[in-house]
Amino acid sequence: HLESRPSRKSKKSGGDDLEFFMKCEVHCSDTDIFINSIKRVADDVRIVQEEKIPWFPKKISDLDKCNHLITKYDPDLDQDHPGFSDPEYRKRRGIISELAFKYKHGDPLPVVEYTPEEIDTWREVYRTLGGLYPTHACRQFLEALGQLESECLYGEDKIPQLGEVSAFLKERTGFQLRPVAGLLSARDFLASLAFRVFQCTQYIRHPSAPMHSPEPDCCHELLGHIPMLADKEFAQFSQEIGLASLGALDEDIEKLSTLYWFTVEFGLCKQNGTVKAYGAGLLSSYGELLYALSNEPQYKPFNPIETAVQPYQDQSYQPVYFVSESFEDTKHKLRQYSSTIQKPFSVRYDPYTCSMEVLDEPSKIQNALGQMRDDLKILHKALESTNTYV
Ligand SMILES: [Fe+2]
Repeated sequence: HLESRPSRKSKKSGGDDLEFFMKCEVHCSDTDIFINSIKRVADDVRIVQEEKIPWFPKKISDLDKCNHLITKYDPDLDQDHPGFSDPEYRKRRGIISELAFKYKHGDPLPVVEYTPEEIDTWREVYRTLGGLYPTHACRQFLEALGQLESECLYGEDKIPQLGEVSAFLKERTGFQLRPVAGLLSARDFLASLAFRVFQCTQYIRHPSAPMHSPEPDCCHELLGHIPMLADKEFAQFSQEIGLASLGALDEDIEKLSTLYWFTVEFGLCKQNGTVKAYGAGLLSSYGELLYALSNEPQYKPFNPIETAVQPYQDQSYQPVYFVSESFEDTKHKLRQYSSTIQKPFSVRYDPYTCSMEVLDEPSKIQNALGQMRDDLKILHKALESTNTYV
Protein backbone atom coordinates (compact mmCIF):
# COMPACT_ATOMS: atom_id res chain seq x y z
CA HIS A 1 0.00 0.00 0.00
CA LEU A 2 1.42 3.33 -1.05
CA GLU A 3 0.16 6.85 -0.39
CA SER A 4 1.79 10.15 -1.30
CA ARG A 5 1.20 13.77 -0.37
CA PRO A 6 3.06 17.07 -0.73
CA SER A 7 5.76 17.23 1.91
CA ARG A 8 4.90 19.32 4.96
CA LYS A 9 8.47 20.63 5.02
CA SER A 10 8.40 21.76 1.40
CA LYS A 11 4.98 23.40 1.90
CA LYS A 12 6.66 25.81 4.27
CA SER A 13 9.73 26.29 2.12
CA GLY A 14 7.84 26.37 -1.19
CA GLY A 15 9.52 23.23 -2.56
CA ASP A 16 7.76 20.38 -4.38
CA ASP A 17 8.95 17.35 -2.42
CA LEU A 18 6.63 14.49 -1.60
CA GLU A 19 6.06 12.34 1.47
CA PHE A 20 5.26 8.70 1.00
CA PHE A 21 3.49 6.35 3.37
CA MET A 22 4.23 2.76 2.57
CA LYS A 23 2.76 -0.38 4.12
CA CYS A 24 4.33 -3.67 3.20
CA GLU A 25 5.00 -7.19 4.33
CA VAL A 26 8.69 -8.05 4.58
CA HIS A 27 10.34 -11.03 6.22
CA CYS A 28 12.04 -9.86 9.44
CA SER A 29 15.45 -11.09 8.25
CA ASP A 30 15.16 -8.78 5.18
CA THR A 31 13.97 -5.66 7.01
CA ASP A 32 17.39 -4.00 7.36
CA ILE A 33 18.35 -4.56 3.71
CA PHE A 34 14.97 -3.25 2.65
CA ILE A 35 15.13 -0.08 4.78
CA ASN A 36 18.71 0.63 3.65
CA SER A 37 17.73 0.31 0.00
CA ILE A 38 14.93 2.86 0.51
CA LYS A 39 17.33 5.17 2.33
CA ARG A 40 19.46 5.29 -0.81
CA VAL A 41 16.65 7.00 -2.73
CA ALA A 42 14.76 8.91 -0.01
CA ASP A 43 15.88 11.73 2.27
CA ASP A 44 14.24 10.79 5.52
CA VAL A 45 13.05 7.23 6.21
CA ARG A 46 11.11 6.47 9.39
CA ILE A 47 9.64 3.19 10.54
CA VAL A 48 6.19 3.10 12.08
CA GLN A 49 5.75 -0.04 14.15
CA GLU A 50 2.65 -1.88 13.04
CA GLU A 51 0.25 -3.03 15.72
CA LYS A 52 0.20 -6.79 15.91
CA ILE A 53 -3.27 -8.00 14.95
CA PRO A 54 -3.97 -11.71 15.38
CA TRP A 55 -4.63 -13.40 12.06
CA PHE A 56 -8.26 -13.90 11.11
CA PRO A 57 -9.99 -15.37 8.06
CA LYS A 58 -10.78 -12.83 5.34
CA LYS A 59 -12.68 -15.10 2.99
CA ILE A 60 -14.89 -18.10 3.63
CA SER A 61 -12.33 -20.59 2.25
CA ASP A 62 -9.88 -19.33 4.92
CA LEU A 63 -12.02 -21.29 7.39
CA ASP A 64 -10.06 -24.34 6.17
CA LYS A 65 -7.29 -22.94 8.39
CA CYS A 66 -9.60 -22.52 11.41
CA ASN A 67 -9.23 -26.12 12.54
CA HIS A 68 -7.39 -25.96 15.87
CA LEU A 69 -8.89 -28.50 18.23
CA ILE A 70 -9.06 -28.64 22.01
CA THR A 71 -8.53 -32.34 22.63
CA LYS A 72 -8.81 -32.54 26.43
CA TYR A 73 -12.39 -33.94 26.29
CA ASP A 74 -11.96 -36.39 23.44
CA PRO A 75 -12.16 -40.11 24.26
CA ASP A 76 -8.51 -40.80 23.45
CA LEU A 77 -7.30 -38.44 26.20
CA ASP A 78 -10.11 -37.86 28.70
CA GLN A 79 -10.24 -40.75 31.18
CA ASP A 80 -13.73 -39.69 32.27
CA HIS A 81 -15.09 -39.89 28.72
CA PRO A 82 -17.63 -42.78 28.62
CA GLY A 83 -15.86 -44.08 25.48
CA PHE A 84 -12.35 -43.98 26.94
CA SER A 85 -12.18 -47.73 27.55
CA ASP A 86 -14.12 -48.71 24.42
CA PRO A 87 -11.63 -49.16 21.53
CA GLU A 88 -14.43 -49.82 19.02
CA TYR A 89 -16.11 -46.51 19.87
CA ARG A 90 -12.82 -44.62 19.66
CA LYS A 91 -12.06 -46.19 16.29
CA ARG A 92 -15.49 -45.24 14.94
CA ARG A 93 -15.20 -41.68 16.27
CA GLY A 94 -11.77 -41.47 14.65
CA ILE A 95 -13.16 -42.55 11.24
CA ILE A 96 -15.94 -39.92 11.38
CA SER A 97 -13.51 -37.22 12.55
CA GLU A 98 -11.24 -38.07 9.63
CA LEU A 99 -14.02 -36.95 7.24
CA ALA A 100 -13.85 -33.51 8.86
CA PHE A 101 -10.03 -33.38 8.74
CA LYS A 102 -10.15 -34.00 4.98
CA TYR A 103 -12.96 -31.53 4.29
CA LYS A 104 -12.17 -28.35 2.37
CA HIS A 105 -14.51 -25.44 1.70
CA GLY A 106 -16.60 -26.17 -1.39
CA ASP A 107 -16.55 -29.96 -0.96
CA PRO A 108 -19.91 -31.68 -0.58
CA LEU A 109 -20.71 -32.17 3.11
CA PRO A 110 -19.72 -35.69 4.20
CA VAL A 111 -22.47 -38.30 4.53
CA VAL A 112 -22.14 -40.67 7.48
CA GLU A 113 -23.80 -44.09 7.31
CA TYR A 114 -24.89 -44.38 10.93
CA THR A 115 -25.08 -47.86 12.48
CA PRO A 116 -28.31 -49.22 14.06
CA GLU A 117 -26.67 -48.82 17.49
CA GLU A 118 -25.90 -45.15 16.82
CA ILE A 119 -29.48 -44.58 15.66
CA ASP A 120 -30.71 -46.23 18.92
CA THR A 121 -28.69 -43.68 20.91
CA TRP A 122 -30.12 -40.83 18.82
CA ARG A 123 -33.66 -42.19 19.31
CA GLU A 124 -33.29 -42.30 23.06
CA VAL A 125 -31.95 -38.75 23.21
CA TYR A 126 -34.61 -37.50 20.77
CA ARG A 127 -37.50 -39.07 22.70
CA THR A 128 -36.32 -38.05 26.15
CA LEU A 129 -35.49 -34.45 25.29
CA GLY A 130 -38.53 -34.21 23.01
CA GLY A 131 -40.72 -34.76 26.08
CA LEU A 132 -39.28 -31.69 27.77
CA TYR A 133 -39.19 -29.26 24.85
CA PRO A 134 -42.86 -28.15 24.82
CA THR A 135 -42.58 -26.85 28.40
CA HIS A 136 -38.89 -25.88 28.56
CA ALA A 137 -37.75 -24.64 25.13
CA CYS A 138 -38.31 -21.14 23.75
CA ARG A 139 -40.84 -20.41 21.01
CA GLN A 140 -38.23 -19.95 18.24
CA PHE A 141 -36.73 -23.37 18.98
CA LEU A 142 -40.12 -25.11 18.94
CA GLU A 143 -41.12 -23.45 15.68
CA ALA A 144 -37.93 -24.51 13.88
CA LEU A 145 -38.04 -28.04 15.32
CA GLY A 146 -41.64 -28.31 14.06
CA GLN A 147 -40.51 -27.26 10.58
CA LEU A 148 -37.59 -29.69 10.59
CA GLU A 149 -39.97 -32.49 11.56
CA SER A 150 -42.66 -31.56 9.06
CA GLU A 151 -40.04 -31.50 6.29
CA CYS A 152 -39.00 -35.01 7.44
CA LEU A 153 -35.44 -33.84 8.12
CA TYR A 154 -35.79 -34.64 11.82
CA GLY A 155 -37.32 -37.71 13.42
CA GLU A 156 -36.35 -40.35 15.93
CA ASP A 157 -35.55 -43.03 13.34
CA LYS A 158 -32.70 -41.35 11.48
CA ILE A 159 -29.80 -39.12 12.36
CA PRO A 160 -30.04 -36.06 10.09
CA GLN A 161 -27.23 -35.57 7.57
CA LEU A 162 -25.32 -32.26 7.57
CA GLY A 163 -25.99 -31.57 3.87
CA GLU A 164 -29.77 -31.57 4.27
CA VAL A 165 -29.69 -29.56 7.48
CA SER A 166 -27.27 -27.03 5.99
CA ALA A 167 -29.64 -26.48 3.02
CA PHE A 168 -32.52 -25.96 5.47
CA LEU A 169 -30.61 -23.29 7.39
CA LYS A 170 -29.27 -21.60 4.27
CA GLU A 171 -32.82 -20.97 3.07
CA ARG A 172 -33.86 -19.42 6.37
CA THR A 173 -30.95 -17.44 7.72
CA GLY A 174 -28.02 -17.99 5.36
CA PHE A 175 -26.20 -20.10 7.95
CA GLN A 176 -24.38 -23.12 6.58
CA LEU A 177 -22.58 -26.04 8.17
CA ARG A 178 -19.13 -27.48 7.83
CA PRO A 179 -17.86 -30.61 9.55
CA VAL A 180 -15.45 -30.42 12.45
CA ALA A 181 -13.45 -33.21 14.08
CA GLY A 182 -14.05 -32.19 17.72
CA LEU A 183 -14.11 -29.24 20.10
CA LEU A 184 -12.62 -26.21 18.31
CA SER A 185 -10.57 -23.44 19.87
CA ALA A 186 -12.74 -20.44 20.78
CA ARG A 187 -10.96 -18.17 18.27
CA ASP A 188 -11.54 -20.53 15.33
CA PHE A 189 -15.10 -21.37 16.31
CA LEU A 190 -16.13 -17.72 16.77
CA ALA A 191 -14.41 -16.71 13.51
CA SER A 192 -16.56 -19.16 11.54
CA LEU A 193 -19.73 -17.62 13.02
CA ALA A 194 -18.68 -14.29 11.48
CA PHE A 195 -19.20 -15.95 8.06
CA ARG A 196 -22.49 -17.52 9.16
CA VAL A 197 -20.77 -20.89 9.16
CA PHE A 198 -21.43 -23.29 11.99
CA GLN A 199 -18.83 -25.98 12.62
CA CYS A 200 -20.63 -29.24 13.38
CA THR A 201 -19.40 -32.57 14.73
CA GLN A 202 -20.84 -35.73 13.15
CA TYR A 203 -19.96 -38.51 15.59
CA ILE A 204 -22.44 -39.47 18.31
CA ARG A 205 -22.00 -39.81 22.09
CA HIS A 206 -21.23 -43.16 23.71
CA PRO A 207 -24.30 -45.46 24.03
CA SER A 208 -23.65 -45.99 27.75
CA ALA A 209 -24.35 -42.31 28.51
CA PRO A 210 -27.03 -41.06 26.09
CA MET A 211 -27.99 -38.15 28.34
CA HIS A 212 -24.52 -36.66 28.58
CA SER A 213 -21.47 -36.03 26.45
CA PRO A 214 -18.34 -34.28 27.74
CA GLU A 215 -17.64 -32.97 24.22
CA PRO A 216 -19.90 -31.70 21.44
CA ASP A 217 -21.50 -34.49 19.39
CA CYS A 218 -24.18 -34.64 16.69
CA CYS A 219 -27.00 -34.75 19.29
CA HIS A 220 -25.72 -31.50 20.79
CA GLU A 221 -25.33 -29.80 17.41
CA LEU A 222 -28.47 -31.06 15.71
CA LEU A 223 -30.85 -30.76 18.65
CA GLY A 224 -29.27 -27.90 20.56
CA HIS A 225 -27.90 -25.53 17.94
CA ILE A 226 -29.58 -26.09 14.59
CA PRO A 227 -33.19 -25.10 15.41
CA MET A 228 -32.01 -21.84 16.99
CA LEU A 229 -29.82 -20.99 13.98
CA ALA A 230 -32.99 -21.06 11.85
CA ASP A 231 -34.23 -17.94 13.67
CA LYS A 232 -33.23 -14.67 11.92
CA GLU A 233 -32.69 -12.61 15.08
CA PHE A 234 -30.67 -15.35 16.79
CA ALA A 235 -28.60 -15.96 13.63
CA GLN A 236 -27.75 -12.26 13.53
CA PHE A 237 -26.78 -12.33 17.20
CA SER A 238 -24.52 -15.37 16.61
CA GLN A 239 -22.82 -13.70 13.63
CA GLU A 240 -22.22 -10.53 15.62
CA ILE A 241 -20.31 -12.41 18.35
CA GLY A 242 -18.22 -13.86 15.54
CA LEU A 243 -17.57 -10.48 13.92
CA ALA A 244 -16.53 -9.01 17.27
CA SER A 245 -13.95 -11.79 17.65
CA LEU A 246 -12.07 -11.15 14.39
CA GLY A 247 -8.60 -9.83 15.09
CA ALA A 248 -9.39 -9.47 18.82
CA LEU A 249 -6.69 -10.00 21.43
CA ASP A 250 -6.63 -13.22 23.46
CA GLU A 251 -8.19 -11.62 26.55
CA ASP A 252 -11.12 -10.33 24.46
CA ILE A 253 -11.56 -13.74 22.84
CA GLU A 254 -11.80 -15.22 26.34
CA LYS A 255 -14.53 -12.74 27.26
CA LEU A 256 -16.43 -13.25 23.99
CA SER A 257 -16.33 -17.02 24.38
CA THR A 258 -17.69 -16.63 27.93
CA LEU A 259 -20.49 -14.47 26.52
CA TYR A 260 -21.09 -17.16 23.91
CA TRP A 261 -21.15 -19.78 26.67
CA PHE A 262 -23.80 -18.03 28.76
CA THR A 263 -25.99 -17.15 25.75
CA VAL A 264 -25.72 -19.50 22.77
CA GLU A 265 -24.84 -22.50 24.98
CA PHE A 266 -26.62 -21.89 28.29
CA GLY A 267 -28.88 -18.90 27.72
CA LEU A 268 -32.38 -18.45 29.11
CA CYS A 269 -34.95 -15.90 27.94
CA LYS A 270 -38.23 -14.45 29.08
CA GLN A 271 -41.29 -15.36 27.05
CA ASN A 272 -44.88 -14.57 27.98
CA GLY A 273 -43.97 -14.08 31.62
CA THR A 274 -42.03 -17.35 31.99
CA VAL A 275 -38.39 -18.29 31.56
CA LYS A 276 -37.49 -20.62 28.68
CA ALA A 277 -34.25 -22.15 27.40
CA TYR A 278 -32.57 -21.18 24.16
CA GLY A 279 -28.98 -22.34 24.87
CA ALA A 280 -27.80 -25.44 22.99
CA GLY A 281 -25.99 -26.86 26.02
CA LEU A 282 -29.34 -26.90 27.85
CA LEU A 283 -31.48 -28.06 24.93
CA SER A 284 -29.22 -31.09 24.40
CA SER A 285 -28.87 -32.11 28.06
CA TYR A 286 -31.90 -33.55 29.85
CA GLY A 287 -30.51 -33.13 33.37
CA GLU A 288 -29.32 -29.56 33.01
CA LEU A 289 -32.44 -28.46 31.12
CA LEU A 290 -34.56 -29.62 34.08
CA TYR A 291 -32.16 -28.07 36.58
CA ALA A 292 -31.85 -24.70 34.80
CA LEU A 293 -35.61 -24.20 34.81
CA SER A 294 -36.16 -25.43 38.38
CA ASN A 295 -36.16 -23.20 41.47
CA GLU A 296 -32.58 -24.17 42.33
CA PRO A 297 -30.17 -22.10 40.20
CA GLN A 298 -29.43 -18.43 40.49
CA TYR A 299 -30.68 -16.17 37.67
CA LYS A 300 -29.18 -12.84 36.64
CA PRO A 301 -30.28 -10.45 33.90
CA PHE A 302 -28.04 -10.60 30.83
CA ASN A 303 -25.47 -7.85 31.08
CA PRO A 304 -22.41 -8.36 28.81
CA ILE A 305 -19.92 -6.63 31.11
CA GLU A 306 -20.82 -8.92 34.02
CA THR A 307 -21.52 -12.03 31.90
CA ALA A 308 -18.16 -11.81 30.07
CA VAL A 309 -16.20 -12.39 33.29
CA GLN A 310 -18.52 -14.88 35.01
CA PRO A 311 -16.62 -18.13 35.78
CA TYR A 312 -18.29 -21.08 34.03
CA GLN A 313 -18.50 -24.82 34.46
CA ASP A 314 -17.77 -27.26 31.66
CA GLN A 315 -17.87 -30.35 33.88
CA SER A 316 -21.17 -29.88 35.72
CA TYR A 317 -24.21 -27.60 35.81
CA GLN A 318 -23.71 -23.82 35.64
CA PRO A 319 -23.63 -21.94 38.95
CA VAL A 320 -25.67 -19.11 37.43
CA TYR A 321 -27.79 -18.54 34.31
CA PHE A 322 -28.28 -15.25 32.51
CA VAL A 323 -31.78 -14.36 31.40
CA SER A 324 -32.32 -12.29 28.24
CA GLU A 325 -35.29 -9.96 27.84
CA SER A 326 -35.36 -10.87 24.12
CA PHE A 327 -32.86 -11.70 21.37
CA GLU A 328 -33.28 -8.18 20.06
CA ASP A 329 -32.32 -6.75 23.46
CA THR A 330 -29.41 -9.18 23.87
CA LYS A 331 -28.12 -8.33 20.39
CA HIS A 332 -28.33 -4.63 21.14
CA LYS A 333 -26.37 -5.04 24.41
CA LEU A 334 -23.77 -7.22 22.71
CA ARG A 335 -23.31 -4.59 20.00
CA GLN A 336 -22.65 -1.95 22.66
CA TYR A 337 -20.20 -4.27 24.38
CA SER A 338 -18.39 -5.13 21.11
CA SER A 339 -17.85 -1.46 20.36
CA THR A 340 -15.69 -1.25 23.50
CA ILE A 341 -13.26 -3.90 22.20
CA GLN A 342 -10.16 -2.04 21.09
CA LYS A 343 -9.28 -2.74 17.44
CA PRO A 344 -7.56 -0.46 14.93
CA PHE A 345 -10.11 -1.34 12.21
CA SER A 346 -13.72 -2.32 11.62
CA VAL A 347 -14.91 -5.23 9.52
CA ARG A 348 -17.96 -5.60 7.39
CA TYR A 349 -19.18 -8.90 5.99
CA ASP A 350 -19.84 -8.91 2.26
CA PRO A 351 -22.49 -11.59 1.70
CA TYR A 352 -22.01 -11.48 -2.12
CA THR A 353 -18.39 -12.58 -1.98
CA CYS A 354 -18.62 -14.28 1.45
CA SER A 355 -15.63 -12.27 2.57
CA MET A 356 -14.64 -9.76 5.24
CA GLU A 357 -14.02 -6.23 4.17
CA VAL A 358 -11.58 -4.52 6.49
CA LEU A 359 -12.70 -0.88 6.65
CA ASP A 360 -9.33 0.75 7.16
CA GLU A 361 -9.37 3.32 4.35
CA PRO A 362 -11.72 6.25 3.59
CA SER A 363 -12.48 4.90 0.10
CA LYS A 364 -13.72 1.59 1.51
CA ILE A 365 -15.92 3.37 4.03
CA GLN A 366 -17.31 5.59 1.28
CA ASN A 367 -18.05 2.58 -0.87
CA ALA A 368 -19.87 0.86 2.02
CA LEU A 369 -21.88 4.04 2.66
CA GLY A 370 -22.84 4.14 -1.00
CA GLN A 371 -24.22 0.62 -0.82
CA MET A 372 -26.11 1.49 2.34
CA ARG A 373 -27.61 4.54 0.63
CA ASP A 374 -28.88 2.32 -2.20
CA ASP A 375 -30.47 -0.05 0.33
CA LEU A 376 -32.11 2.88 2.10
CA LYS A 377 -33.57 4.09 -1.21
CA ILE A 378 -35.20 0.67 -1.68
CA LEU A 379 -36.62 0.78 1.86
CA HIS A 380 -37.81 4.36 1.39
CA LYS A 381 -39.60 3.40 -1.82
CA ALA A 382 -41.12 0.36 -0.08
CA LEU A 383 -42.39 2.56 2.76
CA GLU A 384 -43.92 4.98 0.30
CA SER A 385 -45.76 2.28 -1.60
CA THR A 386 -46.95 0.69 1.66
CA ASN A 387 -48.39 4.05 2.76
CA THR A 388 -50.09 4.50 -0.60
CA TYR A 389 -51.55 1.02 -0.34
CA VAL A 390 -52.79 1.52 3.25
FE1 LIG B 1 -22.25 -26.09 21.33
